[in-house]
Amino acid sequence: MRSFVRHTRIIVTHYGGPDALQVIEEECPQPRPGEVRVRVLAAGVSLPDVLAREGIHPETPRVPYTPGWDLVGIVDQIGESVSGCRVGESVAAMPIRGCYAQYVCLPQRKLIPAPVDSDPAEAVALILNYITAYQMLHRSAKVKPQQRVLIHGASGGVGTALLQLGQLDRLEMYGTCSAQAAEVVKQLGAIPIDYRNSDFVGEIHRRVPDGVDAVFDGIGGDNLWRSRAALRAGGRVVVYGFQAKLRGGRAASDRRGGRHPIRESAILGWYIARNWLRPGRKSMVPYSIQWLMRWKPTYFRHDLLTLFDLLQQKKIKPLIAHRLPLSQARHAHELLGSGGVIGKIVLIPNG
Ligand SMILES: NC(=O)c1ccc[n+]([C@@H]2O[C@H](COP(=O)([O-])OP(=O)(O)OC[C@H]3O[C@@H](n4cnc5c(N)ncnc54)[C@H](OP(=O)(O)O)[C@@H]3O)[C@@H](O)[C@H]2O)c1
Repeated sequence: MRSFVRHTRIIVTHYGGPDALQVIEEECPQPRPGEVRVRVLAAGVSLPDVLAREGIHPETPRVPYTPGWDLVGIVDQIGESVSGCRVGESVAAMPIRGCYAQYVCLPQRKLIPAPVDSDPAEAVALILNYITAYQMLHRSAKVKPQQRVLIHGASGGVGTALLQLGQLDRLEMYGTCSAQAAEVVKQLGAIPIDYRNSDFVGEIHRRVPDGVDAVFDGIGGDNLWRSRAALRAGGRVVVYGFQAKLRGGRAASDRRGGRHPIRESAILGWYIARNWLRPGRKSMVPYSIQWLMRWKPTYFRHDLLTLFDLLQQKKIKPLIAHRLPLSQARHAHELLGSGGVIGKIVLIPNG
């Protein structure tokens, strides 16, 4: 039976600043065959959402679209030909778009069971940020206990996830961050390096003359060469973002209103290709959660279930910077874009 309940969702109306986010109210979506409807309890806000809103992320949809990579929620309605799933079940998913909404319809195969007794905001932080961190540590850098690593953006969403997981792996960690975040980075087991007022390459070589085993670089651009300079021979830079393209939460280039999903990845690819020509046996490997999820969906499921398990055992505890209602999605983007956020911003659509 169709229910004509209304719900709220956010749409991006054009590529640009946070003003591109608008709240709309409409009829609740109905699940099609093979789909279930999820009542969203928590939706993550991430820098990839900001980069897509600016039109420069590789996963930028065409406008108008609803942002939001990941969600945790409760199954609320089941479409035809769905079996093995019941109303009231707690689920998680990473559909890459569409999660800034009260209700979302998703194919059943995209759902992963979520812990019932965990805080949904903490559980959602595990999806994009902690899977990224976990896979980069274990599948890209293949770290071993006691290895030395440098983590850029150590106080951010992915950065704090890398620190917590790195602590479990008994890594020796160095983390670039701004001065206000130094204490948090220290508490999470790393030596903070103020990226605004010091030279991280010099700092690393002062403390570790040979250089570190791995660097996790989501900054991109020429920062990659400096990350490479901080490596020991045989070390590896994991390249996973191009945050340097943002200035004050907006795309640094003056091009307005465009959708450029390939350009920034192509530029990163060009850096990686040029690395081969440089002397010194230092590798650069790209990491992309969405491509690994498409190519190896079993890794995604396995790694998320491993992380949920660590959460339930209280071995990890995501830092939640802000919990905001859906109507404040624009403010969430302003906060994330202006910097200084420690941990993850989460929207609570049905609060
Ligand atoms: N490849 C993938 O699969 C994947 C998946 C998820 C995320 N990402 C990428 O990961 C990056 C981080 O995302 P996030 O959601 O964690 O963002 P976030 O929460 O905003 O964190 C970013 C952090 O970087 C710091 N920062 C800014 N400029 C810096 C610089 N030059 N050097 C060192 N630190 C700097 C910021 O510190 P202040 O605020 O103090 O300035 C902030 O703490 C983004 O590039 C994102 O696109 C990639």
